[in-house]
Parts: sequence; C-alpha cells; structure tokens
Amino acid sequence: MLYPLIRELLSLEPLSQSVTVRGWVRTKRELKNLTFIEVNDGSCFSALQCTFDREKGLGAETAGTLDSITTGASVEIQGLLVPSPAAGQKAELAAGGIVLVGGAPAEDTGSTAAYPLQKKRHSLEFLREIGHLRARTNTFGAVMRVRNRLAFAIHQFFQDRGFVYVNTPIITTSDAEGAGAMFQVTTLDLGELAKSGRAPDYSKDFFGKPGFLTVSGQLEGETYAAALSRVYTFGPTFRAENSNTARHLAEFWMVEPEMAFANLADNMDLAEDFLKFLFARVRAECDEDLRFFDAHIEKGIIAALDQVIHAKFTRVSYTDAVAELEKHKDKFEFPPYWGCDLQSEHEKFLTGEIACGPVIVTDYPKEIKAFYMKQNDDGKTVRAMDVLVPRLGEIIGGSQREENLERLEQRITESGMKTEDYWWYLDLRRYGTVPHSGFGLGFERLIQYVTGMANIRDVIPYPRSAGQADF
Ligand code: 4AD
Ligand code: MG
Repeated sequence: MLYPLIRELLSLEPLSQSVTVRGWVRTKRELKNLTFIEVNDGSCFSALQCTFDREKGLGAETAGTLDSITTGASVEIQGLLVPSPAAGQKAELAAGGIVLVGGAPAEDTGSTAAYPLQKKRHSLEFLREIGHLRARTNTFGAVMRVRNRLAFAIHQFFQDRGFVYVNTPIITTSDAEGAGAMFQVTTLDLGELAKSGRAPDYSKDFFGKPGFLTVSGQLEGETYAAALSRVYTFGPTFRAENSNTARHLAEFWMVEPEMAFANLADNMDLAEDFLKFLFARVRAECDEDLRFFDAHIEKGIIAALDQVIHAKFTRVSYTDAVAELEKHKDKFEFPPYWGCDLQSEHEKFLTGEIACGPVIVTDYPKEIKAFYMKQNDDGKTVRAMDVLVPRLGEIIGGSQREENLERLEQRITESGMKTEDYWWYLDLRRYGTVPHSGFGLGFERLIQYVTGMANIRDVIPYPRSAGQADF
C-alpha cells in the first residue's frame, strides 16, 4: 500500500487519527518547549506543520533526532492529525516520533557542500543553476503541478471531442516548417570527417540520407487526419534557432490538432474553445497554486484568467492589425508596415493596449508564412492564424492547409524546396484530398501565460537553449 500524501492528509477531517507523514523539511523553528517542523512532499502547495511538544516528554531518541534535523532533510514523522490552532491551516500533526531518512547538511562538511536551498527566497537565476533541486521550492513545485494538470486537460479536451492521439516521429528527414532551424541527427564520425577533409557521404549515414529532430509533427499529423478525421499530437519538438529570448527554447512541447473537413473559422473556434477549457480546468483544479502565482509572481493573474474565460477573443486580419499598429508607429523599435513579420512588441501592443485580451490574427502575407498554408484568392495572403495573448504574444500558430496539388507544389518550389522531398505529403492531395486545418500550441508558452512566469526556462523541468543543456 502506498503511504498517504500530504494533499490526502489535508483533505481529511482532523480527528486525532494516527498518521505518518513522509517528505522533506522546509523549516524548523523552536519556540519555548515547542519545535515546529514544516514538511512538504510536493503533492500540494501546503506543507504539513508537525508540532513536537517537549513538555509532554519526547523520548530521548526523538529529542536527539529533532536536534539533528535541518532544512532539506528527508523525514518520516508519526503523530496524531489534529485541528490546528494556527491561522490558514485546517490540520497539523501533534508529532510523537521522527525518523531522519536522509540528512542535508546546513554547513559545508568538507565532503558535502551545505544544502543550497536554505534561504526563504532564491532568485530564479540562481535556481536555474541548480535545476536538479529547484523542484523543491514553492515556485517550481507549483509550476510543475500546473504543468501536470494542463497536460491531463489537453488529453481530456481532445478525447471528449473525438480526436485520436497520434504519436508522430521525433526523427525526420523533412523540414515541416521549411525554416531550416533543425538539429541534425547523425551516426557519421564527425571527428574523422574533419580529419579527412572530405564532404560527408550521407548514403553511409544511419538513414541513408540526412536526418533531423522534428520541428513539428504537423505534416505526419495531416496524413492521419486524412484517415481518422480528427487527430492530435502532443510531444517534444526541437528548434535550433539561436534566439535567446524569454519565450524560446531549443526543446519544447507542442500540441497539434489537425481536422479534416475544417476551414479557418472552424480552426479559430477550436483554438478559442481549447484555450478557454484549459484556463477553466486550471482555475478549478489548481486554486492553491494559482493563488501563490497571483500573490508572488504576477499580480491579478486570477482575475485576468477569469476574464478571458468569459470574453470573446478579438479576431482581426493581418492587414487591419498592421493598419492599427501603424497609427502608433512611434511606440515601436521596429516600425510596422504591411509585409513585416509581427514582432513580439507588436503582438504585445495588440493584445495589451488595443484588444485588452487575446487576439486571433488571420490572413498573413504568404512570404512570411510556411509553404503548406492555403492561399487566398488575392494572391498575396494565406489562411494563417496566430493566437496572441497579453504579456507573451504568440501562443498558437496554425492555418487552413493548401489542399490543391498544383498550388501546393508551386509553393514548395517558390520556397526553395524540392517537391520530390515531399512526395508522400503531396500524395494526400492526389488521393482523396479534403479541406483541412490545424494549429500548434506551445505547451510552455501556455504554462507561462497561466502562471505568469516571465521566463520560459522556468516552466520546463530541464530547459535547453543555445549554449545550455548541462543537466
Ligand atoms: O507557429 P509555429 O512554428 O507552428 C508550427 O510549428 C505549426 N506546424 C503548427 C501547426 O499548425 N500544427 O509553432 C507553434 C507554436 C507557437 O505558436 C509557439 O507557441 C510555440 O509553438 N513555439 C515555441 N515555443 C517555445 N520555444 C520555441 N522555440 C517555439 N517555437 C514555437
Ligand atoms: Mg508561428
């Protein structure tokens, strides 16, 4: 039988029942004859307060163990679950016995450095340097619990709507976004190649041609949507873009639904319903963690989420959005003009200052979007959509796909790629082609939006970015 977690103990009515709690010591305080130990096991935000009353005569062994307890130690504490006299907690443990499972030295012992998480607060920068321990802090515990609930809710949303979960490949030989920011996967001996001075012979490489880590599961997702009607992928994607920003990672998770017989309007509706569903689940299931983010990370985030859940997302064409931005030219480092790629500052202005909420921008110039998007009859724009949110900018990118063979071939060629390389993707347009649409949600951007965490490196257990993949 598994032992009870603190979240379970705290949901019980305290009736002086005997329980044992296991976890890590957050703090130890002494007050007259009382010793208080806060134990956290990560199952919920709250720690369980364990109170030792020295006056009641603790055994010599318990008293001795208590003296050796330090912040970070792992412990097993036995006692009675009783109503707590302290404000803000329903129950505490009237502790009787304690076992030190694993110590965490408060000072450098010569062989072991002092436990690094002893202060009440540490900077997020410092915590990034101890990524293997930061999950033991309030902030990272809360982020990871929210991440977990969101992952579950994503499956729930699609499963309830007839979408089939498809696992698209991680290693690929085609560039899904045509943007060229791919990590190469090879078994060729690079050291030997460099010494020989010869060009690599990819026919001798593992796949008989160059292989890469995928930037998106979309193209393979489309093939399954053309058979199962509605599918979604949810997996890691990789981009070797050297952009060191607070919203880019080299390895991030993406959720990509794809629907047959669906146009851009259907796609926008799905994206809006999807985000609102996820926000509502987090509001319903992560209240304690959200209250922490609201108080310590991003003030007002709960009210903002509540507002978004009930408001209609603004929908605007790229052309109209740019016209609006041009009225505020002087506010930007990069002046907006028709044809420009929207910068993060433009996205933040549209959502934060103009719409005061999420905005779906559609019908971008074809030059700044991927080859697979359906062309509009104006010859200039494509059926793209980006969902932008306040504080962050783009959280979702998607489109209706080009289902016409000739037009798609023409876009592949125009984009400097070879139609032969996409023969299987083009087959979808040769056999039983249908209008279809889909989008990609950046999972870490979603977590950033919901928690208010400013840096994307702080919403994934082990961030990978240029120059950084230490652990
Ligand atoms: O807009 P993107 O590049 O779209 C695609 O990859 C499409 N194939 C999706 C589709 O239609 N099925 O990426 C989708 C989302 C972005 O909106 C953003 O939230 C996130 O993925 N994203 C990143 N997140 C973290 N780090 C990066 N380097 C990211 N690049 C994109
Ligand atoms: Mg995009």
